[in-house]
Parts: sequence; C-alpha cells; structure tokens
Amino acid sequence: MKLSRLAVIGTTVGTAAVLGISTAAMATSGAPAAPKHPAAASATTVAPDSLRALAAKIGLRIGTAAGPSRLTTPQLAAITAGQFSVLTPENEMKWQVVEPTQGQFDWTGADNLVKFAKANGQLVRGHTLMWHSQLPDWLTTGVANGTISDAQLKSLLHQHITTEVSRYKGKIWQWDVANEVFANSWDTAQPDGLNANDFWIQHLGSGILADAFRWAHAADPHALLCYNDFNIAGEDGTNAKYQNVHDFVAKLKAQGVPIDCVGEQGHLDTQYGFSGTRMQQDLQGYASLGLKVAITEADVRTFVNNATDQVPTSNPETLAQPYEFGQMLKACLAVKNCISFTIWGFDDAESWVPGVFAGEGYSDIYDVNLNKKDAYFELQQDLRLAAFGAPDRRRTF
Ligand code: G3I
Repeated sequence: MKLSRLAVIGTTVGTAAVLGISTAAMATSGAPAAPKHPAAASATTVAPDSLRALAAKIGLRIGTAAGPSRLTTPQLAAITAGQFSVLTPENEMKWQVVEPTQGQFDWTGADNLVKFAKANGQLVRGHTLMWHSQLPDWLTTGVANGTISDAQLKSLLHQHITTEVSRYKGKIWQWDVANEVFANSWDTAQPDGLNANDFWIQHLGSGILADAFRWAHAADPHALLCYNDFNIAGEDGTNAKYQNVHDFVAKLKAQGVPIDCVGEQGHLDTQYGFSGTRMQQDLQGYASLGLKVAITEADVRTFVNNATDQVPTSNPETLAQPYEFGQMLKACLAVKNCISFTIWGFDDAESWVPGVFAGEGYSDIYDVNLNKKDAYFELQQDLRLAAFGAPDRRRTF
C-alpha cells in the first residue's frame, strides 16, 4: 500500500519529465484540483536532466529542506519545484512553531509547504514530532518549574503527535517520529545506547519511543514512520552509535512497534573524513531488519573565507566536498531499500551551517549566488549512471 503509492507517483514524475510537462499541470491532471497556491504559478517545467527527473527513473525521491523563502522567492521556488520530488519543512512542523502558545496553533508555514508540494507533484517528509530542540517555551518552562509533571508531559506529547499527524493524514509520505535521542561518543549513554541526558529520555524513559511510533501510526496508518539521527551510518569512528540504533530498532520491530524506516541525516564535515563504504554497510544493516532507509539532511561543510562568500580556504577541501556528497548518494543507490535522498536546503546562502559552525560553510549544492556547484554535477552524474545500471538499481517499488 505504502509502496504502490510511491511507484505511482514516481512514474508520473518520470513521464512528466520526459514529456516536458510542468509539475503544476502534472499534479492537477486527472486528479481533484490541487489547492491554488501562489507558488504554483512559479513552478518550472521538470527538465529531463534535473535531479528529480533523473532520480525518478530509478525510483528514488530526491529532496530538499524548504523554509518559507524557498517556497516564495521566485528564483528559489523554481529550484525547489524543478529539482526536487520530496520536501521537508526545515522548521515549520516543529512543536515550537506549530504551538507557540499552549492550545493556540499556527499551521501557516506547514500548510504552505504541503500545498506547494501538492501543486508541484512532490511528496512531503514530516519533520519532526519528538525532538529535544525547538520545543515551545511554555512546555520547557513548565517542565523546569514543575507545573508540568512527567505524566502530564507524556499526555501532552501524545496530544501533540495525534494533533499534528491527524491534521496532515494522507499528505505525509514519511514522518520523522523521533529525532536524535541516541548518545554520541561525547554524550552519556544508557546501557541501551539512548542519550541519558536527552530531554525525552530523562523525563519519560526509553519506552517513550515505542509510544511515539504507536501514537503516530494510530493517527495516520499509511505514513512511513522513521527514526532520524546523525552519525548513525558511517561517520561514527567506532560505529557504536550505529550498533545501538540498529539493536534498538530491531527490538522495536520484534515487539511489533510500527516503525518503517531509519533516516540518516548525513551532516558531514570534510575535516573529519568519511567512509562511503561504511555508510552503505550500515544502511544495509538497517534494511536487513526489513526497514526502509533514507538520507534525510545531507550537506557537507568545510572551512571558508567568510560567511557571506563562503569560498573554501583549501583546494583539497573543494574536491572533498562534492566527493563526499557523491559517496553518500552512491551508498544510498547501492541499497535497494533506500527510498529518498534529501539535501538540507540547496544553497549556501540560506544554510544553517555558518550560523552554527564558526568559520565553516560551502555545505550545499548551489553557491551563494545560486550557481550550481561541483556537488550538484556530482549528484546529477551519479543519478545518470545509476539509470544506466551502475550500480545496478532497478525500480523495485
Ligand atoms: O524564527 C525565529 C525568529 O523569529 C527569530 O527572530 C530568530 C532569532 O534567532 O530565530 C528564528 O528561529 C530560528 C529558526 O532556525 C528559524 O530560522 C532559530 O533561531 C534557529 O535556531 C533555527 O535553526 C534551525 C535548527 O535546526 C534548530 O536546531 C535550522 O534552521 C534548521 O536547519 C536546523 O535543522 C536541524 C534539523 O531539524 C535536525 N537535524 C539537525 C539540523 C541542523 O541543525
């Protein structure tokens, strides 16, 4: 059921690409009229050599994270619509944004993204239901001062997941149900590998993961439900975090918890090195449990001259950046159960990286002036080769 939906839409996009049909027209033909959205008018024709058209040929969804400007600024919106077949709201579905005041909801950003996606023949990855970051102040303050007990917190999370997933029932392809709750090498790990200091684990214990997946499934039984994290496929030196996530989700599966996929974020930094082979093995490890896998937030940062121009300060790094992007895509392409490859944004100017990692940037596939970078051409070439069978990836879903 879940898979056939993907196959049908994947075929439509591929056909539209070949025929040069606009994504907006494609989304409306033969189906109930899509809601009118300002961005639909700016939707571009899907070019046959675009990332989304090439990926459609091999049954892969290629995605981007989109904040409001990537949906409304004409030049950005044209890329969002023309190059990608699945969208993730960068911040617009996070709890802090959708319920800034308790009981008062603001769905504007999330609704806009869902409408944009529909108008442009794209799917949506919902992001994210249970995360320690970007929680509403009323919630964290209440927990800190004791006016919200742990029992109430659990009930509020249940309500949050039910409200949000129900609102978008049938419109979300994959949900990141739980995000970043496992320990890194620098965190304090519980025996089961979960981060002992994570907000949710601290207050509600490890069992909250199973609850969160069950609540999401009850609200939308057809959405694919994912666990999403970083350093869980190839980047962690010891691979301990991969093993912990693998063993934990294996247990969830064995208990009948409705978990469908694991999302590896793929936030790389050229200074640390990275093994594409290890990433492929780890993605395959999750897939062997009967799960789908996805690269959900790919970007590759490096040291730059300044946050405005974002010119790499070393030549080898300029080569490493597209190379590592390609390694991630190849790892995904080599694993049959890898269903989507999402880049966290697409242009350096709007990236989250310079604001968080001082001195770093150049992490995306378009530069600050919206020119395609080597990383774009690397991904394009990988997809082209994959369509010709190298590596052999036939559409199987
Ligand atoms: O919207 C407010 C605005 O009202 C305020 O004036 C301004 C002042 O700082 O902040 C704005 O909020 C910012 C928000 O992005 C929207 O732009 C937050 O400060 C800023 O912290 C937030 O950053 C986001 C970050 O998650 C928060 O942790 C990034 O855009 C977003 O790319 C990033 O995404 C995360 C994924 O969700 C999970 N995985 C890691 C990834 C990168 O950190």
